[in-house]
Parts: sequence; C-alpha cells; structure tokens
Amino acid sequence: MIAVPGSAGTRRARLAALGYYVPEHRLTNSDLEKLVDTTDDWIVSRTGIRERRIAAPDEATSDLAIKAAEDVLANAGRSAQDIDVLIVPTCTPDHLFPSVAALTADAIGARGAAAFDIQAACSGFIYGLAQAVALVESGLATSVLVVGAELFSRIVNPGDRSTFILFGDAAAGALVVADDDGGPSGFFGFELGADGSKGDQLQIPVGGTRHPASLAFDQADAYLQMNGREVFKFATRVMEESVLRLLERLEMTVDDIDLMVPHQANQRIIDHAIGRLGIPPERVFGNLEHYGNTSAASIPLALAEARDAGVLTSGMRVMMVGFGAGLTWAASLVRYEPT
Ligand code: ACO
Repeated sequence: MIAVPGSAGTRRARLAALGYYVPEHRLTNSDLEKLVDTTDDWIVSRTGIRERRIAAPDEATSDLAIKAAEDVLANAGRSAQDIDVLIVPTCTPDHLFPSVAALTADAIGARGAAAFDIQAACSGFIYGLAQAVALVESGLATSVLVVGAELFSRIVNPGDRSTFILFGDAAAGALVVADDDGGPSGFFGFELGADGSKGDQLQIPVGGTRHPASLAFDQADAYLQMNGREVFKFATRVMEESVLRLLERLEMTVDDIDLMVPHQANQRIIDHAIGRLGIPPERVFGNLEHYGNTSAASIPLALAEARDAGVLTSGMRVMMVGFGAGLTWAASLVRYEPT
C-alpha cells in the first residue's frame, strides 16, 4: 500500500464484517480421557470446555487464516484487492518468518496489501483492531483485515494434562473500513496493556533467540508452559479492571454495554469477571464449550457466532476483553456496523 498521512479528511473507522474458519475434527473430552489422565467431569467443572477443533496434520496456521480471511471478505461483499493492510495476530505462526500475514495475503490475492503479524497472544485480536483503527482514521489505509489465527494443538505438551485440555485451533477475523460520513468513530476506545515481569508465567522457552531450536534442548521446553493458578489470578483481575478503566475514560457504565464478548479461556474466569462487573449473563456471549481457548481467534470467533445466532445485531455496542501471554490484556468497546 502507498499512503499519505493527513489526507484522510473526516474519516472514521467502522467494524464492517466478521468471518471465521474452524477445522473439521472435533476432539471431545471423552476423546481426551483416552489420551491423558483426566475426566470429562474435571474439564467441564474446572474450565467449561466440552470439545475443541484440531487442525489436520497438513494444515498450518496460514491455512486456517486464509479460509477465515475469505469468509470475512465474502460477508463484507469485498474482494481481496480492496484490502490495504492484512494484520494477523498470532503466537503460533507457521514459521518465525515469513509472517502468516504475508502468506495469507498472497494466497487470497491481496497483492497490493501491506501484511504483518502481531504477537500479543490471546489479547492479539484487540491489539490488531487498535492498529486497524489507527491506520484507517489516520488516513494511511481505507480497508484493514484483521485475522486472529492460532494452531495451539501443535504447541501443547501431550504429557501436561493441565494445559493439553485447554486449547483448540481456529481462525477468525474482522474487516475495518473507512467511512467519510462525518460520524463518530465506530470504535469508542481501547485499553491495552502488558506486564513483561510475568512473562515466564506463560511461555515456550525454546525456539527464539534466547534458546534457538538449533541448540540442544529438553523436549518439554519446546511446548507451552503455564503457571495456571497465576494466570488465573491475573486474568480475573485484568478482565475486570481493564473494562472499568475503559468505561471510566469513556464516561460510560456497564449499562452502556449491549453485549460483552470476553476471551474464551475458562468459564470460571469469565463468570468471576462478569459477576464483579455486574453484567447480567444474558448480555454475555460465549462459545468456549465448543472450541476451548483459541487464543487470538477466540474473540472474533465468538463475535461471528453471536452474529450467526442473531445475538449480535447491527448498531450494538460490544465490549471485548481479553488477556494472554506477555502477560498482556486488552479491552475495547465497539459499535457493530455491518456493511
Ligand atoms: N484432569 C484432571 N486433573 C487435573 C488436570 C486434568 N486435565 N489438570 C490438572 N489436574 C489436577 C492437578 O494435578 C491438581 O492435582 P493435585 O491437587 O493432586 O496436585 C488439581 O487438578 C488442581 O490443579 P490446579 O492447577 O490447582 O487446577 P485449577 O483449578 O487451577 O485449574 C487450570 C487449572 C484450568 C489450568 C486453571 O488454573 C486455569 O484455567 N488457569 C488459567 C489458564 C488460562 O486461562 N490460560 C490462558 C492462556 S491465554 C494465552 O495467551 C495462551
């Protein structure tokens, strides 16, 4: 893309379309009982998850991202050539480089688009939306596709039952476009943060420059490692605090939220957060039981399914909130304005 800042006029960003792709294969809790020392009862009562989707052996993250990107474009009635920027939030890329975004842009035919990945783990989709809004409202782009894509089944340790049961594979995203109607932004605001001092609470030790995969390593260090209790405590705190900070900054209250779509990691975390916030469960959408934690894909996947279920309708104010490795957190209030 070629862009000139300051040429935007009165441009505002709008969330115009949603889309997703999930692999066909379902791995249920009873399937897991045959693989690790666990029970359906334990998984459902501790997490709320009943099944998750697992990518085929020949699928990599970009294969999921391509299908999700095509679904978003089909729902928007737009062609890949209309895309100025493709952003892929992911922490499970095909390779360290090239980026998933570059591979996806090529495959869908978005040849003139700038393309890059961002790494904020499960907060990545909201971080990606913030980038999209900044690009559109500054006049640097008129159409930005954000596709969260994750393939966690490749990075969880089959020998670690406390993490193996939590995650699933999926890709889902949104199209952010420019409108010149002089109205207010479709995005009310963002609250983004990170606390790297807790980075070691959720990490993959091997495979980066700290410990390259070319050096000898313990197999367990090539998998995701998590201090579940610490992440749980962090998550319940930031889910509540980030929403309250954002509402305060916007001079709004929870009554101004039509629908809440939290990151789908653990039902107990969600219940705790919405209970503290005082948001009635009927104004909260989730699909955790069917997909598990799909990291950067989880919020857009839930948004798309809320739309399909008729729960998310045009004009609604939606509060998204998430947390993840980093440790990071993110919240955003947006008006859904489909094309
Ligand atoms: N099946 C049966 N028992 C299990 C399993 C399992 N799958 N996993 C752990 N246990 C056992 C433990 O061994 C332990 O047994 P012990 O008491 O005999 O030692 C017992 O269950 C309790 O273990 P805890 O770790 O205390 O279980 P907890 O209730 O905390 O639940 C969980 C664990 C589900 C991981 C929880 O801590 C959690 O959800 N944490 C947050 C995780 C999260 O949301 N991560 C998001 C990551 S986002 C990203 O960026 C990737």
